[in-house]
Amino acid sequence: MAESVESENDVGFLTAIFNEIVYNPLNLFLVVVISILAYKIFRNTTQPKTAQAAPVEPTLPRLRRDFAVQELKQYDGNQPDGRILVAVNGNVYDVTKGKRFYGPGGPYAAFGGRDASRGLATFSVTSNDNNEYDDLSDLNTMEMDSVREWEMQFKERYILVGKLLKPGEQPTNYSDEDDEGPSDKSTEKPKEE
Ligand code: HEM
Repeated sequence: MAESVESENDVGFLTAIFNEIVYNPLNLFLVVVISILAYKIFRNTTQPKTAQAAPVEPTLPRLRRDFAVQELKQYDGNQPDGRILVAVNGNVYDVTKGKRFYGPGGPYAAFGGRDASRGLATFSVTSNDNNEYDDLSDLNTMEMDSVREWEMQFKERYILVGKLLKPGEQPTNYSDEDDEGPSDKSTEKPKEE
C-alpha cells in the first residue's frame, strides 16, 4: 500500500515538472536550447577526430634524382605543384611540408630552390642568386660543423631527393632503387680504392 502511494507521488511530481515545462514558454525555450547544446556536445564527442581535422594537403609523388644548382631553382614553391627543394651540404631535400618556412613569403624563402649551406653556416637568410656550384671550401671548421648539424636536422625532418651535382658530375640513376624510402647512398663517402 505504501509503495503505491509512493509511485503515485512520483507520477504526480513528474507531471508537475512536465506541465511546468510545457505551459511556461520560458522553460520550454530553455529545454529546447539545452537539448540542442547537449546534442552538439554529444555529436562532437562521438565523431572521429580525423573528420574534424584540417583537410590534409595532397602529397606529391616522391622525387628521386640529382640536381644541378640551376635545375634546383625552379623548385622554390612558386610553380603550380608547389614543390620546394633545398640543398644542404651537397644533398637535396624535399622540404615541401615545411612550406611555411621555405615557401613564398616564408621567413626562409631565400633557401627555397637553392643551396642553403652557406646561408645556414653564416646565419644569413638573404637571397643568394648565385647560379654557380658553391664548394664551401672557404668556410671555417665551425661553419662547416654548423652546416653538418643543419643537415642532420634536414635529414630527420625531410625526404632526401638526391645529390647536388658538382660541375661536370653525372647524375645517379636511381630507377632500380626499391621504394623503401631513401637509401642514403648520396651521403656515403666514396670508398677509397
Ligand atoms: C631572430 C632570429 C631568428 C628567430 C627568432 C628564428 C626563429 C625560428 C623559429 C620559431 C623556427 C621554427 C621552429 C619550428 O617550429 O620547428 C625556426 C626555424 C628555422 N630557422 Fe630560424 N630564427 C631566426 C634566425 C634564423 C637564421 C639566421 C637562420 C638561418 C641560418 C634560421 C634558419 C632556420 C631554419 C632552417 C629553420 C627550420 C625550419 C624547418 O623546420 O625546416 N633562423 N626559426
